[in-house]
Amino acid sequence: MHATEEITPVSAVQVGLGGWGTDWALRVLPSAPGVRLVGWADPDPDARAAFAAAAGVPRVHCGLADALADVDAEAVFVTADPAAHGELARAALTAGKHVLLDRPFTPDLAEAADLVKLAEDVGKALLVAQPQRYTAASSQVRHLLAQEVVGRARHVAVAFRRNRRTPGSVLWRVSVDHFDLLRAFFGEASAVTARAWPRGQSRDGGLASFSAEIEFASGVIAQYSASTTSPAPATRWTGDWAVEGDDGVLHWSGSEPGRGVRPLHPRGRRGHRGPGRRAARARPLGRGGAVRPVGAGGRRVRDQRARQPGHHRAGGRRGDQHGHGERVALA
Ligand SMILES: NC(=O)c1ccc[n+]([C@@H]2O[C@H](COP(=O)([O-])OP(=O)(O)OC[C@H]3O[C@@H](n4cnc5c(N)ncnc54)[C@H](O)[C@@H]3O)[C@@H](O)[C@H]2O)c1
Repeated sequence: MHATEEITPVSAVQVGLGGWGTDWALRVLPSAPGVRLVGWADPDPDARAAFAAAAGVPRVHCGLADALADVDAEAVFVTADPAAHGELARAALTAGKHVLLDRPFTPDLAEAADLVKLAEDVGKALLVAQPQRYTAASSQVRHLLAQEVVGRARHVAVAFRRNRRTPGSVLWRVSVDHFDLLRAFFGEASAVTARAWPRGQSRDGGLASFSAEIEFASGVIAQYSASTTSPAPATRWTGDWAVEGDDGVLHWSGSEPGRGVRPLHPRGRRGHRGPGRRAARARPLGRGGAVRPVGAGGRRVRDQRARQPGHHRAGGRRGDQHGHGERVALA
């Protein structure tokens, strides 16, 4: 589409006006010419009052049905709690509206399948907004993997760590984005094994730490871990990724393309010649660098060897994880 072409915006009602709903309404949607909000709804009176004051809108409805009865909208944008996504999407589709949901789609797989069928039956669009799938960095990773810059992908390790005791389950708050990326890169999963770790809970008693092994139909194996109560150095929100292929390993961390995406190849193997290629040779760990205890918040745990004259830090680089700790590139 040419920049000069006029876009007729889709009129939409937004339901769910908590933290992220408000962020969408005030910060994201004003710069999206394809959508025009014409109504808002939330059952919580405090959320309604706070939103009305922040957004300066004259009326916020108690529920989706009230809003749809009052305004003329072609679509519904769902930014409510995930537990309400299914019911809201069903009501919107049944009323003949297109639906966009903030992720996750719904916590129930059978409900998700029913909604997809309902959308097909009524001929309306049903989409899930995935915040990480379309960033420049994840697009670059997808492109490099499609080009097999490290050969055929065989194994991927993904680790996400924070120490914030954020509310809610880490699975629904964070990991859904990583699982969406895994599907974008490697296709559909054929088997999943997962378990929670006995390490703390979120602020409101939700799941804080778990790991999973996922097998993809393509044969790729993923080992995934996520924790919001980790004493280890924090990762970026993307998590730290290492995709091992037949010819090397692709490291990825952070949402900026370029520096955060690094294909590395063992010495002697041919590297990729396209964008994103970097030092196509193995980098050995520095002397004594293979074991580096790091305390909570990135504090280095006292290491007597580090005090010895002539002892050097491992051959990594600083500052890749919000300035906490260090990373070491392995190939
Ligand atoms: N895009 C991102 O990067 C991102 C990040 C975190 C969360 N999210 C998603 O944003 C959504 C909202 O999360 P949040 O942190 O703002 O939650 P929140 O708890 O702050 O707000 C949820 C709001 O939904 C309202 N609600 C509940 N049931 C409703 C219903 N039936 N109809 C209308 N409103 C209803 C609640 O009253 C509340 O005001 C979730 O889907 C979450 O997964 C997106």
